[in-house]
Amino acid sequence: MSEPLVLGIETSCDETGVGIVRGHTLLADAVASSVDSHARFGGVVPEVASRAHLEAMVPTVHRALATAGVKLSDVDAIAVTAGPGLAGALLVGVAAAKAYALAAGKPLYGVNHLAAHVAVDTLEHGPLPAPAIALLVSGGHSSLLRVDDLTAEVTPLGATIDDAAGEAFDKVARLLGLPFPGGPHVDREARSGSSVAIAFPRGLTGPRDLAGHRYDFSFSGLKTAVARWVEARERAGEPVPVADVAASFQEAVVDVLTAKAVAACREQGVDTLVVGGGVAANSRLRALAESRCEAAGIVLRVPRPGLCTDNGAMVAALGSHLVAAGAVPSTLDIPADSSMSVSEVRV
Ligand code: KG4
Ligand code: ZN
Repeated sequence: MSEPLVLGIETSCDETGVGIVRGHTLLADAVASSVDSHARFGGVVPEVASRAHLEAMVPTVHRALATAGVKLSDVDAIAVTAGPGLAGALLVGVAAAKAYALAAGKPLYGVNHLAAHVAVDTLEHGPLPAPAIALLVSGGHSSLLRVDDLTAEVTPLGATIDDAAGEAFDKVARLLGLPFPGGPHVDREARSGSSVAIAFPRGLTGPRDLAGHRYDFSFSGLKTAVARWVEARERAGEPVPVADVAASFQEAVVDVLTAKAVAACREQGVDTLVVGGGVAANSRLRALAESRCEAAGIVLRVPRPGLCTDNGAMVAALGSHLVAAGAVPSTLDIPADSSMSVSEVRV
């Protein structure tokens, strides 16, 4: 068979994504976001997201097919995010994927959202060398993984013990009066601030923490430290230097993320680091990862920002790997699994 043509559907949070790939080549990446409907609530409202997926699904599939210049009947397989994510949101994508698979007589692959965030990098940088270390940082997850085989063997090394990195960005943005989702706004504010203006704590980096939580993260203490600092300023009637707080907070997050990722590569004897998830769009994280990897002789792979945030292309990319590896398709009765484990690449 020539390289497989795979359609991927993503609905785990607030983006309805439909991507089409042939092998490692991206043909279409259609995304409809409901983010504007959540902004006034300061976070994603699950029921609103589910309803928006329902409305956006068919038009987004049509848009992706038109962009790729293919018909549903040309597709070799349909992949869909089966978890983890918001239960109701996942259900819409899984039900749609089953319907398309059944109607068109195509095999179905239910895949893991986190593994898909890693797989998307192959669309830009080609096959991923094995083993690789993956740093996965999104609104719902922060994990360090060892990837021996993207289609079968992903081993968690560590994860956040409280807030996800993106969640910390969103909460700090809110404290600073910036809109939701906060990550891109903090990133932009930080460019005109000083990253050394305020010494914010680096979670789980003390000698005792490193013994028990070597590859784990914690961002809730940092978030509280930022809140206390801002409150003290406000109580004193002084203006809050938003750019300096943003830059110093951002530095604390990306310092820990990159230090632990590079340490994992060194200690595991792995020379490739791939960074994925929405927070991988952060300009300072990308720059610091680049310089630290270069200093350590590690090859860094980070997809372009548009492929870091949730999209359907990442799901299609992982589906394409599974088809190429000869994986057995999922059955049509697979569930949406909101708490799917990161080590479960597919269902
Ligand atoms: O991967 P993603 O699109 O959705 C989840 O799977 O959660 O990640 C969304 C998260 C949000 O918390 C958002 O604030 C954050 O990624 N994010 C960023 C940036 N762009 C998106 N965080 C920091 N800097 C950015 N430039
Ligand atoms: Zn994601």
